[in-house]
Amino acid sequence: MRQLKHGTIELILGNIVDQDTDAIVNAANTKLTGGGGVDGAIHRAAGPQLKEFCLQLPADEQGRRCQTGHVQTTPAGNLKAKYVIHAVGPFYNERYSDKAHTQLRQVHTLALQAAIAHHCTSIAFPAISTGAYRFPVAAAAKTAIDCVCTFLSTTPGLSFVRFVLYKQPQYDIFSSTLEEWRMDDLDP
Ligand code: APR
Repeated sequence: MRQLKHGTIELILGNIVDQDTDAIVNAANTKLTGGGGVDGAIHRAAGPQLKEFCLQLPADEQGRRCQTGHVQTTPAGNLKAKYVIHAVGPFYNERYSDKAHTQLRQVHTLALQAAIAHHCTSIAFPAISTGAYRFPVAAAAKTAIDCVCTFLSTTPGLSFVRFVLYKQPQYDIFSSTLEEWRMDDLDP
């Protein structure tokens, strides 16, 4: 756990669906019609209403309701959280790793901003893109932690951000990344 100027960041080993933060973040795909991993677990726990909320969002001609690197917010159905912020992280490709990092950072920033826009003061994130989308965990942790710590150091609105890690090795990597984070790491 670390206390930053405007809020606290906490890491836990656990399941994203159990979180009672105002918002939880889904590791979604562009269609927002559900999937495996975090997406499947959230849709199962939230109940069929969540898919109905997603299907009400406008889709383009290819059925995409949210572009990569962007977020959409819906109510959370049967979950303890009030909102699900569906975040589409990048599929990791080593040849385009700069773009993947930019999109991963952007999706975290947009999720934090969406939570504030919906009057949430707390939010829980999974390790977006580190499963089916194959982002290396250490690299994803560095970007995700730096984005959230920078945000909580500079922007009022959220008092609590939690990362929910599903496996011990991921928890350990996020933990050491958080311990090592310094204000000096702030991007210009
Ligand atoms: N709670 C917290 N973390 C979880 C849970 C859970 N219930 N289930 C899986 N995880 C972890 C995984 O271990 C992984 O590290 O979340 C991380 C993200 O994995 P994915 O859910 O596969 O998400 P992502 O890599 O962003 O891929 C998104 O997967 O299911 C599809 O529809 C989804 O197409 C989209 C893609």
